[in-house]
Amino acid sequence: DKITWNIADAELGGYAHFMEKEIFEQPTALENTMRGRFSEDGSTAQFGGLNISAVDLRQVDRVHLLACGSAWHACLVTEHLIERFARLPVEVDYASEFRYRNMPLGSNTLFFTISQSGETIDTLAGMREAKRKGYKVLAVSNVVGSTIAREADGGVYQHVGPEIGVASTKAFTSQILIGAMLSLYLGRMRDMSFSEGVEVVNALKGTPDLVRKVLEQAPRIREIAKRFAHYHDFLFLGRLSLFPVALEGALKLKEISYIHAEGYPAAEMKHGPIALISENCPSVFFVPSGEMFNKVVSSMQEIKARKGKIIAIATANCDLPAGLADEVITIPECHESVLPVVATVPVQLLSYYIAVELNRDVDKPRNLAKSVTVE
Ligand code: G6P
Repeated sequence: DKITWNIADAELGGYAHFMEKEIFEQPTALENTMRGRFSEDGSTAQFGGLNISAVDLRQVDRVHLLACGSAWHACLVTEHLIERFARLPVEVDYASEFRYRNMPLGSNTLFFTISQSGETIDTLAGMREAKRKGYKVLAVSNVVGSTIAREADGGVYQHVGPEIGVASTKAFTSQILIGAMLSLYLGRMRDMSFSEGVEVVNALKGTPDLVRKVLEQAPRIREIAKRFAHYHDFLFLGRLSLFPVALEGALKLKEISYIHAEGYPAAEMKHGPIALISENCPSVFFVPSGEMFNKVVSSMQEIKARKGKIIAIATANCDLPAGLADEVITIPECHESVLPVVATVPVQLLSYYIAVELNRDVDKPRNLAKSVTVE
């Protein structure tokens, strides 16, 4: 008999693309990222490889995050979480800019780089610049023994397994999860109480199940993707920790579908991007319940008044005015520490299915590399 399969097919395990496989692997990937990383009393995170004592970490009064691409978006989410849980000021830089910026830095600044591959040359150069100035640099990376992991003073491995698709999916959500765990850890050394710590730990442990619930909606998101695949421009709009998720959604769509997309903080849309709105430019809105709900709804109304189509990614407890969104993708109600992870999954699926609909080379999009090792 003729052999009718090849190794690549076998590794795909029934999925059409690595990107699809990696999106669906996320519940397990996130479990692996968290394994063994909570304290016995269930009130904080713990890491085996930071190589920096609690006494030294307690002296840190500023955090500086460096990365490129999706990892830079993960830094922006982490900025919100560190501010929220540890009350430390955070600076986020593109590594490629930081290396030439020569900005004034305080003496108790802790650097973190985030790099899935651990080989991105700009991130490595940014990290070397920080080390040259005498700072400790910790790294979040998925690749054990990568250059960035080896040169860092310590760090956290993601443990999500190899990511083959050029567009980052499971590595991105795992980076945000580590950002949340680090924020919790830094927070519990400062003002976060035992009971708030327990609440955050329980929320983080529940993330894989919440992601499973979002993945169950894949068939519906595929239908929406079919209806929206012919547009040439999209806006992605979110606020606070969902603004970086909007940037990531726009990046995913650009990377694999070659559709022009921009991410903006929802309220900032009126300062320019609203000029793009017409029946030909749909918007994807992130709509969480809570303090920002009414503000986001009024941004949606501004889009609707200009005939823009709207896809809303809304938490289950949101009471969206009827008819405001053309499509609603409901995500489970969740704790603020895990919301950015949960909200990312629908935009991964949306951009994946749009790219499939357009017959794009999903795993190897044109002009892009998985790891950029030139400046
Ligand atoms: C490339 C990839 C992106 C990735 C970025 C940073 O541009 O196409 O998906 O986010 O590099 O990669 P890193 O390995 O440093 O996370």
